[in-house]
Amino acid sequence: EKAGYKHFMLKEIFEQPRALIDTFRHRVDPHGGEIILEEFHLNPDEVKRLKKITMVACGTSFHAALVGKFMLESLCRLPVEVDLGSEFRYRDPFVDSQTLLISISQSGETADTLAGLREAKTKGARSLAICNAVGSSIARESESVFYTHAGPEIGVASTKAFTTQLVSLYLIGLYLAKQLGYRQPDQIQQNLQALFKLPTLLQDVLDENRAIREIGQKYMKANNFLYLGRGIHYPIALEGALKLKEISYIHAEGYPAGEMKHGPIALIDEHLPVVVLATRSPVFEKMMSNIEEVIARRGRVIAVSESDNDTVREKVETTIPVPETSLELSPILLVLPLQLLAYHIADLRGTDVDQPRNLAKSVTVE
Ligand code: F6R
Repeated sequence: EKAGYKHFMLKEIFEQPRALIDTFRHRVDPHGGEIILEEFHLNPDEVKRLKKITMVACGTSFHAALVGKFMLESLCRLPVEVDLGSEFRYRDPFVDSQTLLISISQSGETADTLAGLREAKTKGARSLAICNAVGSSIARESESVFYTHAGPEIGVASTKAFTTQLVSLYLIGLYLAKQLGYRQPDQIQQNLQALFKLPTLLQDVLDENRAIREIGQKYMKANNFLYLGRGIHYPIALEGALKLKEISYIHAEGYPAGEMKHGPIALIDEHLPVVVLATRSPVFEKMMSNIEEVIARRGRVIAVSESDNDTVREKVETTIPVPETSLELSPILLVLPLQLLAYHIADLRGTDVDQPRNLAKSVTVE
């Protein structure tokens, strides 16, 4: 049932183009540019009364929430707060009936996320869950449920659940933006067109699999890795580092690149691979200066960047090419090479990729 793949994780990485389509297919009208969210139970007046959105999640789902913050703030012009389940539940959070609480969970059973949802409901918040497991506790206890339809995720390291959570947040963001009057139908149409192209672009990244394994070979002996991103790519740096540490047991840190000189720059030497997310974006120039700072300290830069981005390619030791897409959708594309890199390094080091030590697929205790 691994369909010829060596591990479930690899199979699930390769399932992502299909999984994404399953997330959006029945929720968009391909011609009129409409987004149909029958599962969302707030009426337009209630949406207009919302004062803020609070997102609660753990682990990889928390990283999806961090990307969601960028998407929802820019699309809906509402303040968005993101918290870890384990922090949110114990800090007497400021939520009320004008808060939309979005909980994000693949399994729908994560104890801390569930407790956060319950806490917010007690305070009167409206609730929307983004879940993969149908009929799970978080799904059952939420007022509205948006299923990701990624299909069962067996590998302990989350992959397709993450990218489908991001597509879900994008659709929810567009839907709310339209209700709030921040997006006109023609803009929605454009945003959806970009989404429809995404599965093919993901496939282009998956076609780099062999090359990424070779890159894995080149760096597999490192003891530490640093991942850097800015803006909407910062959570992808966190996610890349989490993937690597959980399956290969190599110590890895994700950092917002602008924070480098406030501490982590001290780690850089000729032994440190530094994975940088360096596609064209409003902060591309800033990212280039960070790359130069790393190189000046002899760090070994692995850049994820567009194939025609010579500015990056000419500077760095290794490049992983990705196609171009919109800024909001770029995290979905950029995380793929990081999943593959973590997978290959772990496999080359001979760890148990699908069942990493000390980890469980679903964390139902705190
Ligand atoms: C990482 C991973 C975990 C989960 C976290 C939350 O690859 O799988 O960090 O993301 O335990 O799980 P869910 O999404 O089921 O609430």
